Amino acid sequence: MQNKSLIVLNNHHQERNDGSQDVIQGLTNTPKSIPCRFFYDDRGSQLFEKICDLPEYYPTRTEAWILNQYAPEIAQVTGSCTLVELGSGSSTKTRSLLDAYTKNINADYINSCDLKSCKYLPVDISDGILKTSVLQLQTQYSSFEICGLLGTYDQALSYLASSLDEPQMIFFLGSSIGNFNQQESDHFFDRISQTLKPGDYFLLGVDLQKSPEILEAAYNDRQGVTADFNLNMLAHLNWYFQGNFDLNLFQHQAIYNQAEAQIEMYLHCQQAHTVSLDILNLQIPFRSGESILTEISRKFDLQTLQSQLLAHRLQPLKVWTDPKNWFALILSQA
Ligand code: AVI
Repeated sequence: MQNKSLIVLNNHHQERNDGSQDVIQGLTNTPKSIPCRFFYDDRGSQLFEKICDLPEYYPTRTEAWILNQYAPEIAQVTGSCTLVELGSGSSTKTRSLLDAYTKNINADYINSCDLKSCKYLPVDISDGILKTSVLQLQTQYSSFEICGLLGTYDQALSYLASSLDEPQMIFFLGSSIGNFNQQESDHFFDRISQTLKPGDYFLLGVDLQKSPEILEAAYNDRQGVTADFNLNMLAHLNWYFQGNFDLNLFQHQAIYNQAEAQIEMYLHCQQAHTVSLDILNLQIPFRSGESILTEISRKFDLQTLQSQLLAHRLQPLKVWTDPKNWFALILSQA
């Protein structure tokens, strides 16, 4: 691996083609949808950071509590290894893990006088937030070699498979796995298990099933930050594809679909009109009341999820939860 602060994994031209096909397909389908990766331009990432601090949005706080409580145990189980975080954002929660591994590195040093430095490789598709957090962490965690990988999860996993020889733990926090449908999640677990070498670790943070009231409140917050986050996706499409979505003509709503055990986020069109995305040469007619599905956020049952991990050759070793059993961290080994 080269000694750099940031490695750009995405070829912009290819990125644009990939995004285009998904957007065309989603907006010409019935019902309409937009891939949730379009939430995360720089403003979207900032809004997501705000969501994480909202009183109703319990997942971030709860996962942070579990991490804070059990990071030393996680570090103890895996030993020193390269830490790879998929979808790192501002890496706020990661600090508990970095602190715990730092203690391990220091203990190794005292015991053997052989300073093993650890690597931390945050992966994100948002340029601004990745650069800022890498710079901050580099000043605070001097025993870590820190290098941001700018690109998609798929690109990062291909890169890691071809360039990392040392033991590693890939971690995927915040229940982002919930934003994948079952097929995408199966593909993702396959990619993880192909990337890891036998003995490597995978740490997964997941939001567990609970009452619809708690779930719906978390995605329809009173300050309207989630609504702004949802609508910002249209602004992102306007910028990316020279579009003319009028954000005032759409309204945010999140509902819990109990049969599918998932939150579904929608943008409901308030008035019949046509939107164009010039770069895609696309005209999209909207009926009044028509909805765009912008995100699913699945809520998990621990038993089912552990069987799925095992089916992908990821052996669950340990599960940590909070006192209310709202959220869980699962450590698996390849
Ligand atoms: C990133 N992801 C796990 C969040 C979630 O809870 O599904 C995204 C989000 N959407 C609305 N609020 C938060």
